[in-house]
Amino acid sequence: MGRVYNFSAGPAVLPEAVLERARDEMLDYRGSGMSVMEMSHRSKDYLAIIAGAERRLRELMGIPANYKVLFLQGGATLQFSMVPMNLLTRPDQVADYILTGQWAKKAMAEARKVTSNIRVAASSAEVNFSRIPRQEELQLSPEAAYVHITSNNTIFGTEYFYVPDTNGIPLVADMSSNIMSRPIDVTRYGLIYAGAQKNLGPSGVTLVIVREDLLGRNAGLHSMLDYRVLAENDSMLNTPPTYAIYILGLVLEWVAEQGGVAALEGVNKRKAERLYAAIDAADFYNCPTEVTSRSRMNVPFTLKNDALNDIFLAEAKKAGLVTLKGHRSVGGMRASIYNAMPEAGVDALIAFMQAFAARHG
Ligand SMILES: Cc1ncc(COP(=O)(O)O)c(C=O)c1O
Repeated sequence: MGRVYNFSAGPAVLPEAVLERARDEMLDYRGSGMSVMEMSHRSKDYLAIIAGAERRLRELMGIPANYKVLFLQGGATLQFSMVPMNLLTRPDQVADYILTGQWAKKAMAEARKVTSNIRVAASSAEVNFSRIPRQEELQLSPEAAYVHITSNNTIFGTEYFYVPDTNGIPLVADMSSNIMSRPIDVTRYGLIYAGAQKNLGPSGVTLVIVREDLLGRNAGLHSMLDYRVLAENDSMLNTPPTYAIYILGLVLEWVAEQGGVAALEGVNKRKAERLYAAIDAADFYNCPTEVTSRSRMNVPFTLKNDALNDIFLAEAKKAGLVTLKGHRSVGGMRASIYNAMPEAGVDALIAFMQAFAARHG
């Protein structure tokens, strides 16, 4: 079997060119005589890799000089705790969370271990998280230390298409599943975090972009949990996830070769529009999300007849279309179509879905 179209929600498909490059450089990284995996993180070659990754990320995302870029460990999940630990200045200070799904819920649960004063500023729980609350629905506390959003909800398939106005209160965004899928204005955020394993690279490295004035609010944190200390040490307080950062750097090179983030947005829009249109056109399929909140990265859909789910997955697999099973809290299917999913993969899925509906409808 050759390569399949992998619709996994994460770790997810990587650009083939990146994997080929990594393969070619596996045993001898550019004349160093060793693999990146075998290199000291303090070596000249490696320092060039990590600095190059940061430089390219800053260019591609337009990250201003007053923001630090950190390559950390512990996944986006550790950020659920590091955000409140670093940004709250008192144990009883308020933080606002917008509840749009499972990951937002988990972020909130961890924050509640740091302060008892976590508030839900808005929620779409009552409609099974099928939409993103609108600006006018947000009930923000003027005294909050920060407002937390999940910019793309990987499980429920919804995405923000506006940046909440928080009236000057730092906006914190978990962008794990839509970072670099479209241009954003970084200055609208106080802090952005993302596990790399969807749009940026392999698992093992977590990206944090944090505005400098938010550093050092709390002395006495463990150094590995303190953004200020991590920033002062250029993400090298201890051994960083060297190989994951190297692959992330290759992915960023690939993004630049595609024409940058705006070019990727064009492709992502086309892919998502075609797939949603195919779902909406057929009575056989249903998409549970509200049209204006539909994610361009994670597309959940159900079959009208649940009894066909296993047959759908088995036949799809035979056609080289894999990891389409939906999350148990939504059911049905989910096609994750991140940056590295080629348009041809989405077209193959649509063709399969149409043929399947014709056979079983
Ligand atoms: C939106 C979102 N946040 C957080 C996480 C958790 O990330 P990690 O596994 O890197 O801790 C995920 C994982 O899928 C996610 O989709």
